Amino acid sequence: MTPTLAPRLLDAAFFADPYPAYRTLREAGPLHWSEEFFGGAWLLTRHADVEAVLRDPRFSARRTSGWVNAAQSQRGELAGFQQLFARALLFLDAPDHTRVRALLQAAFRPDALQRLRPRIEALADALLDAIDPREPFDAIARIARPLPVQVISLVLGIDTAPRDDVMRWSDDLAAFIGAPQPTRALALRAQSSLLGMTRHFAAQLHADGPQCAGGLVAQLLQARGRGAFRDDAECLAQCAMLLFAGHETTRNLLGNGLLALLSHPQQWELLRDAPERIPGAVRELLRFDSPVQYTGRRVTTALQLHGQTLQRGDLVLLLLGAANRDPARHAHPDRLDVLRADPGSLAFGSGIHACLGAALTRLEAEIVLRRLLQRWPRLRLADAAPCWFDNPAYRGLRSLLLRAD
Ligand code: HEM
Repeated sequence: MTPTLAPRLLDAAFFADPYPAYRTLREAGPLHWSEEFFGGAWLLTRHADVEAVLRDPRFSARRTSGWVNAAQSQRGELAGFQQLFARALLFLDAPDHTRVRALLQAAFRPDALQRLRPRIEALADALLDAIDPREPFDAIARIARPLPVQVISLVLGIDTAPRDDVMRWSDDLAAFIGAPQPTRALALRAQSSLLGMTRHFAAQLHADGPQCAGGLVAQLLQARGRGAFRDDAECLAQCAMLLFAGHETTRNLLGNGLLALLSHPQQWELLRDAPERIPGAVRELLRFDSPVQYTGRRVTTALQLHGQTLQRGDLVLLLLGAANRDPARHAHPDRLDVLRADPGSLAFGSGIHACLGAALTRLEAEIVLRRLLQRWPRLRLADAAPCWFDNPAYRGLRSLLLRAD
């Protein structure tokens, strides 16, 4: 059967609001072929399909060589990047995945996170104390960008000062990973940033200071000492991945979430009247405008899907943002409803790779929202035209001007 070709998706209107295009795709059929991503990929948009593939071991998470090859670099010039990048938890299959995930998991358990709560609150308060809301301020630059990198540094047990270089490294990785057709220039920049990150961690791994003592980096060092990692590179790859995964996505949850709430003032008021609704609201915000819009898998063995033969090595993109608006799963999916009874979505993925930082990121968002509602109950948008990054994987705002009187 000839595959259904997806229409051209990636234009300015899509980056401003991808949901109409997702709906068109979903209604046209369950499986599409698109040449716009990595030279050709299958697209899935329905909740049931996306969840099933995420849970199916015939679809492998090992896909970094596709990015590196698509970047058409000269032979060998991205070898350092590929070696490190490919070893991050996100891109491993079992049994390596099982072994490495178990080493990281303890730091993200609810009791460990609750112990961090007062320190996360203090970091959020320090950022908010520095803002005068009577003047328009950029919530991305002042809150959403610096806070997540400080919080993940806290979890790792390294210096929590918001460093511009650390945030830039992470931005360079997101620009490359999210690019539907990665270029050599993007890849080289991502490589140099990943190496910058690992040098930063290598220095911290050997610093052994008091900050390091209680954090995840110290636990990873002990694990390395016991021989639980294959080598130092495997250990460093996890540190760099956590910094990136914890920074980019949470920034976009805070930015997209604030934009959604303040564009629906009655929803903001529902939270102001009853802050105990905040945890449910955060889940709904994750569903409504997901910070991670897609992830991918490679087919490991030829198989049939919706009447098509998928060949070994084919790339399948799972459009999480589309699945989270699937009317077969969520009633009135295009409506933001902070009181939704079951807002559970695929924003954090599903199956063995389901997000390790989900509870941490929800805690951060809850803390920020609670404080904003308390401090500035009349917070509002100060700019009618939000400006989005043109990154189809990581959906986020470049800036978000707010004010309160
Ligand atoms: C709004 C915030 C976040 C969103 C939307 C998000 C989303 C996701 C998604 C969709 C996946 C699955 C990817 C796949 O299956 O291919 C994932 C995995 C992962 N996330 Fe997050 N994430 C967020 C925050 C964080 C934070 C704060 C951290 C760490 C501090 C983190 C660490 C990870 C890790 C380590 C994985 C890989 C897990 C594995 O492969 O077993 N994430 N995340």
